[in-house]
Amino acid sequence: MELVVDLPNRRATRKLAAALAPRLEPGDLVVLAGALGAGKTFLVRALCRELGVPREERVASPTFALVHEYAGRLSIRHADLYRVESGRELAELGLDVARDDGALVLVEWGTPYVADLGGDALVITISLEPRRAHVTATGPRSAALLAALGEAAELLDSGARAG
Ligand SMILES: Nc1ncnc2c1ncn2[C@@H]1O[C@H](COP(=O)(O)OP(=O)(O)OP(=O)(O)O)[C@@H](O)[C@H]1O
Ligand SMILES: [Mg+2]
Repeated sequence: MELVVDLPNRRATRKLAAALAPRLEPGDLVVLAGALGAGKTFLVRALCRELGVPREERVASPTFALVHEYAGRLSIRHADLYRVESGRELAELGLDVARDDGALVLVEWGTPYVADLGGDALVITISLEPRRAHVTATGPRSAALLAALGEAAELLDSGARAG
């Protein structure tokens, strides 16, 4: 199943975050994909705010630090794997361990590393022209999350559709 959500403006992205955030649980993996500037970091920031990360805390691209850590309702790791070149380099970031310890792991450019990250990822691919989120799942937990997201009233109102 694929859920498609139109993201014509930042408000629509915030709405997607508001629908997804309450359904996220410890150990969940969300992978953000899509071209440069598609809006991956913006969606991560919106998710963090929904999860209660204080506004004073900057949620920005971890391109150079590779991993940022935030505390909200869940403990959150935010990674950008654009510059990561191997599974070994990835292992040093400890994202799989953090997941096992109950962190929510949000990963930009993580598609090639889903298996290394422990699998079962909710994959959100943002396309441009028009800007849309294409949401898919790679395992049982993420499939349940996807189904719950598909039933979210907030999104049904704004024209999300399953394909
Ligand atoms: N739904 C939206 N509608 C309009 N603009 C948006 C939307 N979502 C994000 N943006 C804007 O797009 C720009 C790029 O967003 P962002 O930095 O989140 O992209 P990114 O996918 O993380 O890029 P990178 O590939 O460099 O990591 C920002 O100015 C952001 O505010
Ligand atoms: Mg980014």
